[in-house]
Amino acid sequence: MEKKKFYITTPIYYPSDKLHIGHSYTTVAADAIARYKRLKGYDVMFLTGTDEHGQKIQRKAEEQGVTPQEYVDKIVAGIKELWKLMKITNDKFIRTTDDFHQKTVQKIFKKLYDQGDIYKSEYEGWYCTPCESFWTKTQLVDGKCPDCGREVELTKEESYFFRLSKYQDRLIKYIEEHPEFIQPVSRQNEMLNNFLKPGLEDLCVSRTTFNWGVPVTFDEKHVVYVWIDALSNYITALGYMSEDDSDYKKYWPADVHLVGKEIVRFHTIIWPAMLMALGEPLPKQVFGHGWLLLEGGKMSKSKGNVVDPVVLVEKYGLDAIRYFLLREVPFGSDGVFSNEALINRINSDLANDLGNLVSRTVAMIDKYFNGVLPEERQSGEYDDDLIKTVMDAAGMIDDMMDKFQFSNSLTEIWKAISRTNKYIDETMPWVLAKDESNKSRLAAVMYNLAESIRIISILLQPFMPETPEKIWHQLGIENGEYTTWESSKTWGIYPAGISVKKGAPLFPRIDVKKELEELEKEIEKKASEKPQQNKESSKPAAKAEAEKPAGKELITIEDFAKIDLKVAKVLEAEKIEGADKLLKLKLQLGDEVRQVVSGIAKYYSLEELKDKYVVLVANLKPVKLKGVESQGMILAASDDSNLSLITVDKNIGSGTTVR
Ligand code: ME8
Ligand code: MG
Repeated sequence: MEKKKFYITTPIYYPSDKLHIGHSYTTVAADAIARYKRLKGYDVMFLTGTDEHGQKIQRKAEEQGVTPQEYVDKIVAGIKELWKLMKITNDKFIRTTDDFHQKTVQKIFKKLYDQGDIYKSEYEGWYCTPCESFWTKTQLVDGKCPDCGREVELTKEESYFFRLSKYQDRLIKYIEEHPEFIQPVSRQNEMLNNFLKPGLEDLCVSRTTFNWGVPVTFDEKHVVYVWIDALSNYITALGYMSEDDSDYKKYWPADVHLVGKEIVRFHTIIWPAMLMALGEPLPKQVFGHGWLLLEGGKMSKSKGNVVDPVVLVEKYGLDAIRYFLLREVPFGSDGVFSNEALINRINSDLANDLGNLVSRTVAMIDKYFNGVLPEERQSGEYDDDLIKTVMDAAGMIDDMMDKFQFSNSLTEIWKAISRTNKYIDETMPWVLAKDESNKSRLAAVMYNLAESIRIISILLQPFMPETPEKIWHQLGIENGEYTTWESSKTWGIYPAGISVKKGAPLFPRIDVKKELEELEKEIEKKASEKPQQNKESSKPAAKAEAEKPAGKELITIEDFAKIDLKVAKVLEAEKIEGADKLLKLKLQLGDEVRQVVSGIAKYYSLEELKDKYVVLVANLKPVKLKGVESQGMILAASDDSNLSLITVDKNIGSGTTVR
């Protein structure tokens, strides 16, 4: 019989210098589903990749003095390494710089142009480079990007447009008739009410202000808008419109596109409209998961919170990290990632509950039966309840996994683990062992423990690539007939008479306090090695500036003149609660008083600062630091260990221009 197909995708990732643990979220979740489906006997196609074009990349490459291709090649190599480290089982990895991908994107663009779905006009709008998205004036929030809150740029250019508006009614109808298309349901309502029903505007789908993108074949000064380029990956990877489109025929439409909630909009409006225009079927589902938050904001490098997945995996092991990501927060909701929560889960769920269960059981079989379990079955009060709880977990998990309820699935598995641990307390094998006449009861108890662990280990496979094998090794079984997904549905097939083997603890316990202190040190070390250039950082701005790579590009005197430098007198300095590096300064600037936040608390006392004449960047856009508005920045020279404010060496009035 031909196998059932299952096609699952992650978004393709922007090449970012440093992937953080939030990035691995979508991929780890997709991997759990892919593994589960394979265990269920599906022919799985699991696609991930990288989204490498666009202005943002071009700019970063320029900053580093390398070509965009060189820039992305290096980062993509790192991303592939990370997925290898995390044992991600993707079947394909697509790069939007792949030749075949670019060719197909060009064909798609041409086809849509030829049939009138793409037309030429003029574009004026606001562009958010970090998000690579266009906004109309009314969509902006306080003049900033409504998605990320950063600055947008006004752009006006000759552009090609996609007739998105033409598909509005069909999209609404489709979404209403296919409630499973956008999941969770809350995201469906959001798309309908916030975007579709208010009305769609045609979409600008080409750019001329930079060239790092797929060229429009019939108008070479244009490159294809990155989202058109990127979304196409889901079908170009399967050979759509190419000589060999057998994978496309085999796997499309996708069963699910797994995406973060911030990009559901692109996947449920632009993408289906493109497919409608191409006359191709729509993906069966787009699932928008929530964000992993670190101290409140969406964790991402550009906002200053980074947790390095490589470091985490090396420290705590892959399975612990994957377990935490999928257990801690229901998929679909936002949740908080913290090192402390991670360590607590490792200690309680993994070291205590699971790890101890396995090591105690194997040790007892070893001790009481020389490591070889006799065939012995009994059923009694504790036995029946144990078996029921374990079989319930095995019985419920498929349905939950089909709905991507990872956290619930793991909760069920842990109920089984806890029940099994409780069974040890109830049956008290060490008491049974004292009396030879209890030998058969003791054997039955050991058998039930081993069988429960066998079933649990099978159910863990989608989540943990390493632990199940380790458990099987200790139980004396091999990956085979006793470890198939199906075999978890039947109690009592663990083969008695085989030898168990004591092994290393699956998850060593961690000293929470010590570990947290160590982490803190590492974070500080990292921060001093690689200063963050961003506003959230509590370092003196001047310090970050000074540590930028040498060989900055030359500027003209006009460029320099854009900076309004003024002498300012410190009237008052004050500590900021909850920010031990920052001070709030009141500055006299001629007849104006300014409030400036500065990261100099470690280097100056409050008294020392009073009446100092410092140099202020007076026309810097105001920002909030730890909730306190800063209207400019004062200059300082600094290195790793010291900081010195720039002051004037003669008596000269506040408000005087520095040039
Ligand atoms: O959006 N918590 O790429 P990307 C949870 N190139 N998920 C997070 C996260 C966090 N803190 N940070 C990132 C793009 N992600 C586009 C996609 S698809 C045709 C183009 C998730 O690198 C994010 O939600 O910004 C997304 O699913 C994935 O990482 C890639 O994000
Ligand atoms: Mg993103």
